[in-house]
Amino acid sequence: MVPSRRLYPHQWSWDAAFIAIGLAYVNPTRAWRDLRSLFEAQWPDGRVPHIVFDPGTAENDYFPGPGFWDVPAYSGRPARGSTGLVQPPLHAVAAWEVYRRAASHGAECARAAGDELAWLYPRLVAQQEYLTTRRDAGGDGLASIVHPWESGLDNSPSWDAAMSAVPADMELLTRFTRRDIENADAAHRPTDVDYARYLGLVLDYRSGGYADADLASRHAFVVECPSFNSILAAAEHALVHIAGVVGADPEIHRRRAARITKAISEHLFDASTQTFRARDVRTGRLSPARCVNGLVPLLLPGLPAAQAAAIMTEAASPRFGLPDRTGLPVPSYDRTAPDFDTLRYWRGPIWINVNWLLRRGMLVHGYRGEAEDLRTAMVRLVHRSGHFEYFHPVTGEGIGAPAFSWTAALSLDLLADRSVPAYARAA
Ligand code: GLC
Repeated sequence: MVPSRRLYPHQWSWDAAFIAIGLAYVNPTRAWRDLRSLFEAQWPDGRVPHIVFDPGTAENDYFPGPGFWDVPAYSGRPARGSTGLVQPPLHAVAAWEVYRRAASHGAECARAAGDELAWLYPRLVAQQEYLTTRRDAGGDGLASIVHPWESGLDNSPSWDAAMSAVPADMELLTRFTRRDIENADAAHRPTDVDYARYLGLVLDYRSGGYADADLASRHAFVVECPSFNSILAAAEHALVHIAGVVGADPEIHRRRAARITKAISEHLFDASTQTFRARDVRTGRLSPARCVNGLVPLLLPGLPAAQAAAIMTEAASPRFGLPDRTGLPVPSYDRTAPDFDTLRYWRGPIWINVNWLLRRGMLVHGYRGEAEDLRTAMVRLVHRSGHFEYFHPVTGEGIGAPAFSWTAALSLDLLADRSVPAYARAA
């Protein structure tokens, strides 16, 4: 499945996880096939690429496409089959969700799910190992992203401070043509200066063979994102359950989940404002911007109760606003910030996937009423405006791609699933 037929005509990594969570209800075979397609493109070092290119789609249909990334051949796959970046590792969570719904589709489906889980398990473990070792550029037990695209929150204000130190070579935009603004309104998309920096960062990482040694001293953008790392820890919680099914030792996953949670709690929490922020590994500074990624640590069952409560306070405040205040899911950025932008992608608009994560976090920490309000606000918004890529944070109007896969897939989950995640019940 592709995120959007015109704007994103290849397979994206974290999109595939969200999409599988929806497919679990209607077509589990396809959910497994999608996850397999992604993990068949896993690199020998364990990284799962942020895009797997569809060989049937022309180079010109998407930029930056296979030729720009110029990834060498690996594991028997031809060259230029993927990118060299990653995205948030939500796949263990997705695989567990698909597995736990399999029985409702009959015995044959449940048996196949066991086989799929066994195939995925060592690959999911390799993905976690890549992120927790080679990507621990700060040496504090957190994974660093080396490009804003790796966060999944491409142009979030979370990256502004770190990105201001990245050279913007505007000449790159004459050598290469942006395709995103041919398929979407330029006022909604990242600016040209941002885009020049994005391309420069890829070219730098590419010229080093996509290697991760000495990132903090060598690479211009090395950042610890609270939402990326919370998903990393949530994956370890899901792996505890998966290990139980496939006969592996769950203990290592329990330990890793606890270690990552502790590192998020200690290194990404700004005590003076009681909020989670992205941290620039090169300068050691927390980002001044209050963004939706700061709410995602609520996913973690081991988060200290005071920090969970602080996240709920921030979410309910005028900066974001829960549905009882706004009638809407939360926006991607602080509504009160002077540069809050109602149209520009991750700088204001509402996205269903991060709200889905936030609702899950509310369930984990027992905020059941708020979780139910958020669930109905998401369903209402999609029902009213359509399965858009993102939504205007004041009017709720749909913007971006009109038939967006994760919005549709997660809507299926929100309509069907009112339950508490299994690990929350256990905790
Ligand atoms: C954009 C989003 C990212 C998503 C991709 C494909 O780049 O920011 O989160 O994975 O589109 O939908």
